[in-house]
Amino acid sequence: MTLQFSLGPVAPETIDTPCVVVGVYENGMFTSAAARVDTAAHGAIKRQVESGDISGKAGTATVLFGPEGVVAKRVLVIGLGGQKSFDSARYQKVSIEAARALGRLPIEAAVSCLTEVDVPGRDAAWRVRTAALAADYAAYRYTATFKPREKSAQPELAAIAFAGSSDATPGLEQAAAIAEGVRYARELANLPPNICNPAYIADQAKAFADAHDTVSCNVLDHVEMEKLGFGSLLAVGRGSVNKPKLVVLEYKGGHEGDKPYAFVGKGITFDTGGISLKPGPGMEEMKFDMGGAAGVLGAFVAAVRMELALNLVCVVPAVENMPDGDSYRPSDVLTSLSGLTIEVLNTDAEGRLILCDALTYTAQTFQPQVLIDAATLTGACVIALGKHASGLMSKHDDLAAELLAAGETTLDRAWRMPLWDDYQSQLDSGFADVANIGGKNAGAITAGCFLARFTEGQRWAHLDIAGTAWDEGRKGLATGRPVPLLAQWLLDQANKSK
Ligand code: BES
Ligand code: MN
Ligand code: ZN
Repeated sequence: MTLQFSLGPVAPETIDTPCVVVGVYENGMFTSAAARVDTAAHGAIKRQVESGDISGKAGTATVLFGPEGVVAKRVLVIGLGGQKSFDSARYQKVSIEAARALGRLPIEAAVSCLTEVDVPGRDAAWRVRTAALAADYAAYRYTATFKPREKSAQPELAAIAFAGSSDATPGLEQAAAIAEGVRYARELANLPPNICNPAYIADQAKAFADAHDTVSCNVLDHVEMEKLGFGSLLAVGRGSVNKPKLVVLEYKGGHEGDKPYAFVGKGITFDTGGISLKPGPGMEEMKFDMGGAAGVLGAFVAAVRMELALNLVCVVPAVENMPDGDSYRPSDVLTSLSGLTIEVLNTDAEGRLILCDALTYTAQTFQPQVLIDAATLTGACVIALGKHASGLMSKHDDLAAELLAAGETTLDRAWRMPLWDDYQSQLDSGFADVANIGGKNAGAITAGCFLARFTEGQRWAHLDIAGTAWDEGRKGLATGRPVPLLAQWLLDQANKSK
């Protein structure tokens, strides 16, 4: 369940709530809400600033319980950092920390005044939306595979009201929709691969379509794909007893003849590397190798929930990459759906092998006006950009600019890498039209270049989310990226044609 959000004008000192949230900058600079609360509470915040208990450092949280003169039961003071350097990213960070602090309190509801602070270049709708998304992000818990617990007696945060006027209402509605999409993606990606296999993803997609009149779902199984010639995709799945599925979701929110937008997401439900087996340590992280699929499905969920006036298709090749007596092998030559032949030089470069057939199928079947794929495609992208930015590749400068802008707006940022034809020769093969790896240089780009060969004539962009789809570590969870970026981009497209 996502958090419940609401909006309203707030007099922070008179509001009757279990907790009111206000911000304080470094050096004791108060926001207007903090100043009002402080005055009503006879200087209770100021005294803690003077004592050094409240530093104003970005993201710090201090709870004042039952301060006299204030109606709220508690005041949560959040540090905002320096005022001069306060920016969008800081705003998002402090919004997440505020929500985390609220989550540790024994309360069900709170009111936040952080949405009133000035964020350079952003309006009230943006502030409310960003705060709401941050709160829901912080509130998410993964529970699916723990022993069911008794419902704890401790109340849990369920609702947050944000200070703001009705011009921020669209921001709140978008947040609710995008939060649902992000949760959908996170939950799917967090599930272990013995549950979340290709058939499971297909069943989830069907269930979503059944619950929504505007959505239909079609799933191709390996027998149908065999007939159609998905030689590259099927080769990857051959080593697994969990047979591949191609999941196709269609949303019709636009006019009958409008060409759809199309998303394709890499859905490797577990990537062992196949015969080119990965090393043991860290292999468990490869359950997240369907993060692209989760991301495009989450963006699809958000678009449906926002009832965007456009047509959208979402295609997920769902496949497990396993070593087996029947696995595909290095030096195999595959015939892809497009007819291009591919020499397999490494069975661990499997993402591009399922994506190429899915992209060909999507282009042929739907003639989309734009085609975007998202994939946890290369370790090289993580080396290049780390865990903060997704890699963006496109030959279309205008499309790339739109996607970069959507990433900035949502702080789900991407960074562009070139797709120049100069790199293409790295994929030359002596035995097929193309090789599936391009050597050690520019691994993220050569993966993009491989896909480019299958998307000629399409208005296409590729997002490598290998670094951004999940947080590292034993307890690292799926992030739900790039749902915010893709949902924002769709929103922008819908607004453009209005
Ligand atoms: N799923 C991996 C990419 C990956 C690795 C994502 C680490 C996130 C973290 C992909 O299928 C893969 O194995 N790629 C290879 C390609 C290589 C064989 C050309 C890689 O990046 O090492
Ligand atoms: Mn791999
Ligand atoms: Zn992979």
